[in-house]
Amino acid sequence: MANHSGHTFSEQPLAPGPIGLFDSGYGGLTILSEIKQLMPQYDYLYLGDNSRAPYGSRSFDVIYEFTRQAVFALFEKGCNLVILACNTASAKALRTIQQVDLPKIAPQKRVLGIIRPTAEIVGDLTQTRHVGIFGTLGTIQSESYLLEINKLFPDIQVVGEACPMWVPLVENGKANSDGADFFIQENIESLLQKDPEIDTIILGCTHYPLLYNKIRKYLPEHLQIISQGAYIAKSLQDYLGRHPEMDAVCTKGGGTNYLTTESPERFEETSSLFLNERIKVEKIALDR
Ligand code: DGL
Repeated sequence: MANHSGHTFSEQPLAPGPIGLFDSGYGGLTILSEIKQLMPQYDYLYLGDNSRAPYGSRSFDVIYEFTRQAVFALFEKGCNLVILACNTASAKALRTIQQVDLPKIAPQKRVLGIIRPTAEIVGDLTQTRHVGIFGTLGTIQSESYLLEINKLFPDIQVVGEACPMWVPLVENGKANSDGADFFIQENIESLLQKDPEIDTIILGCTHYPLLYNKIRKYLPEHLQIISQGAYIAKSLQDYLGRHPEMDAVCTKGGGTNYLTTESPERFEETSSLFLNERIKVEKIALDR
């Protein structure tokens, strides 16, 4: 069957395939590592749109279009379940893909985001009921965290701080440079000025765990930092437990493959900064 955009889908039963993970660049690897640690038995296919990263300051339309292309590419490579391992894509593109694209293109396949599962855990962690979010401009402007957290915990005050320089530092291999300290300190001070009662900080961008040591260095000690990876992994495990029909079409060979829209050599080199294994990377084009 063909649809308006020329993509085709079949109403045959799904053929088993790897779980897809998508991020604008390297950040989603922080989510993939935690997922693999909890569920090493599955096969995974990671896609980083490194040639077009960062997404964070781009418009809604552009982020949606790039994310849609990436999801379709992962579907074409055999994935039946795709995780948007990117807060910006989850904030800007997830709902439209779930509600508009999936029913037309691949009604049996699923795309999940990472904001809701992160929002779910905050209620148990904050004592003061004041929570701060660091994220990209797109994530903060979308107010997705505020909306998701307040749906579940209306008593929690949520304040966001956009950190547009943090992702470029990671994408350019400068996460540990002295220059990174300046921007990290500046954004931390700005957030805490907005609300000094914050006791819990969410790193609402998958790239930020790579800046963890520097963020910890400049945050007052009594503030706790929530890194999403482990919570997303647990939430995916729960999802597969509740959806045996999806679990049955996720292959379990314990392998991971990587796709990038930039140079595979560059991806291999940069990803080695935060993956403890040698990987094989293939180049893919998305802009069609
Ligand atoms: N890692 C992505 C996130 O979680 C966004 C990075 C970017 O700006 O491209 O928001």
